[in-house]
Amino acid sequence: MKEMKKLFILEEDQLAAAELKQRLASSQWIKVCGEASGMEGVWSTIQAAQPDIVLIGSVKSAEIGVLCQQIRLCFPHIAFIAACSARELHWEPFFRNLGIWVLTKPVDVAQLEMVAGQAGMTPFGPPFHQPPFSPAFAVAEARQEKPYPVRSPEEKRLITIYGPKGGVGKTFLSRELAVYFAGQKKEGRPLNVLAVDFNLDLGTIATSLNLPRSPNLYTWVQAIDEQLNELAVREGRDPATVTHEEWQEYSMAVRLSPQDVSKYVVVHQETSLHVLTSPRDIRQSFEIKDYHLYIMLETLKQSHYDIVLIDTAPDTTDATIQALFFAQRVVMVGNPVVDAIENIQRMLKLLREAEYPEERIHICLNRLQRREMFTVEEIRGYFQLHPSRTLYTIPDDPEVKRSINTGVPLMLYPGRSAAKEAIETLGKVLGPSFVGESAAAVQTASKKRSSWLRWLRK
Ligand SMILES: Nc1ncnc2c1ncn2[C@@H]1O[C@H](COP(=O)(O)OP(=O)(O)O)[C@@H](O)[C@H]1O
Ligand SMILES: [Mg+2]
Repeated sequence: MKEMKKLFILEEDQLAAAELKQRLASSQWIKVCGEASGMEGVWSTIQAAQPDIVLIGSVKSAEIGVLCQQIRLCFPHIAFIAACSARELHWEPFFRNLGIWVLTKPVDVAQLEMVAGQAGMTPFGPPFHQPPFSPAFAVAEARQEKPYPVRSPEEKRLITIYGPKGGVGKTFLSRELAVYFAGQKKEGRPLNVLAVDFNLDLGTIATSLNLPRSPNLYTWVQAIDEQLNELAVREGRDPATVTHEEWQEYSMAVRLSPQDVSKYVVVHQETSLHVLTSPRDIRQSFEIKDYHLYIMLETLKQSHYDIVLIDTAPDTTDATIQALFFAQRVVMVGNPVVDAIENIQRMLKLLREAEYPEERIHICLNRLQRREMFTVEEIRGYFQLHPSRTLYTIPDDPEVKRSINTGVPLMLYPGRSAAKEAIETLGKVLGPSFVGESAAAVQTASKKRSSWLRWLRK
């Protein structure tokens, strides 16, 4: 006889909980083993109930994201599902990164059963160390299709380059890091590296590498829209009447082949670097919606690229925020100038308040001159960096301007320079353990993990 999965419901909306229980009564796969309507005593109740799955609905006393993290740390073998209302859906990329399933409210029993089936086959590990799952994955299961092989986070990296001020060197650094990674090898073969220009309206990565801007992100968006339209038509809808919220829902069911990404990239011949450039026409960037970005990031996460580097705009638009939440590493770039420093500090504050894993963030001061008004130590203090964290610096280099004007990356210049070495150092820290000197990289990786746990517990 098949074993039923035990479900614990944590939901303060008692009506929603009762309805769900009623709908689950006839399920052959799931039985409810316990429930709670608030945080009080929930730890011991969960422990006693020994569930396979915990479904977390809204609980007022704690933000849902923080709550999931806390419970997962104590019960790593349990699968978690966050049931989100439309209002809470902004947490979704965050949950996905934690390996937490996300279902929309009201929870659909068939979807819940699918997740329950997965939970048995794939016990979830501790946070950040298990493959990402998504409803797209669940949909694949339902269609009896083979899900795409999910790669371990140690095998590939999504790195976002961000800086809350223009002209500090984000695009320069994105290009140089991408070229650095493209020159690295894994088991004798060159790494597959993709640079993505998420500066949707005014991106310049293509220009900085002398590349054409076609195809580009917008070409991809058009292809996604075709699929979304087809889905709507199949459901008997007229696409012209579908609302933004409904497109968001449809986008959950869109399943793109990770191999398709290569249709939309341009290749930098000298380095074999792939580049997904921003649109040619600024107006096209207005057509790129949050759900397009979400689908693209999900697909990139499953693609064959070993490293995906995302350059962003100095803003807090959807593209930038999603790129931050999807990333496994973030480089926060600034100059040693008071306004750039202040903005980094403000952004750090925001991310800290959102319980963003600070462990992922690496701060880099670009264009450092020999004599600066502030010492690196003073700036560290201002950012309140943990003593174990490094503040990376890249010197001001007169060659950079020429290198941008000619489209020849600094990393391809012959000979050594302080700026090149600084970028390599950063690349080794950011890349997976197979990048750079492996022993040193492994050591940093284990250090990182422990400091992440410390950060979580504090
Ligand atoms: N390390 C550096 N040394 C000298 N100039 C630099 C350096 N980094 C960036 N620059 C200059 O700063 C300009 C702006 O850089 P860019 O990468 O476009 O900034 P952002 O993407 O943050 O807006 C570049 O055109 C380049 O001339
Ligand atoms: Mg830029």
